[in-house]
Amino acid sequence: MRRRIIAGNWKMNKTIPEALELVRELRLGLKDCANVEVVVCPPFTTLSIVGQEIEGTAMSLGAQNVFWEEKGAYTGEISPHMLRDAHCRYVIIGHSERRHIFRETDEQVNRKIRAALGAELTPIVCVGERLEERQANKTFEVISGQLRGGFASLQSAEMQRIVIAYEPVWAIGTGQNATPAQAQEVHAFIRNWLVKAFDKDTGAAMRIQYGGSVTAENSAALIGQPDVDGALVGGASLKAESFLKIVQAAAC
Ligand code: 13P
Repeated sequence: MRRRIIAGNWKMNKTIPEALELVRELRLGLKDCANVEVVVCPPFTTLSIVGQEIEGTAMSLGAQNVFWEEKGAYTGEISPHMLRDAHCRYVIIGHSERRHIFRETDEQVNRKIRAALGAELTPIVCVGERLEERQANKTFEVISGQLRGGFASLQSAEMQRIVIAYEPVWAIGTGQNATPAQAQEVHAFIRNWLVKAFDKDTGAAMRIQYGGSVTAENSAALIGQPDVDGALVGGASLKAESFLKIVQAAAC
């Protein structure tokens, strides 16, 4: 049985006082939700303080991006080692905003995944098609290309330390979530791809989150699908009330 995982991607939101306020509310509300893994991914500037605040709770810390080199002259970048130093256990890699706004390629995603694994971080690797690609019936082609490129040269044992997030680009921040059936269809495709590219055990073990306009209202139906193992939540993770409801929906 795969353990469900709910992660909050705060994106470029929250000052230090705002982050502390949110995480304190989460800490109070999360007491009874031990059977689902909960991850918060604040911006770099609040990682350390949020990390201190959630120590000893059921929550884990994640970052939203990472660079593949360990240290050196890479102005503006953050290394896997630095994320570990800030008590991160997870890192989001290849989010569609990074792919589309910052032109990240599958090859860069692959380098980041390998560096993160090397530092004992758990990558949350995002894949997803744009609206025009879905309309042109290219969803599976796009997703398999991202999987092939992102996971190039990885072994089964490494794959089993990775979480995948299926985030259709047209559903991100739009209020138009994928239907549970649409999500299940792509999640099953991804699992099947993992079985073929690696092996049965890898396909069965890997967790695949859904992301894209997940709310307190729609999360139970999405997470209730057989191949949906949790959610990567954007907007609804910025308020304790909605994020806690999503966690609760996954816990029961
Ligand atoms: P929203 O939940 O705001 O649509 O964002 C989803 C997302 O991009 C999470 O990584």
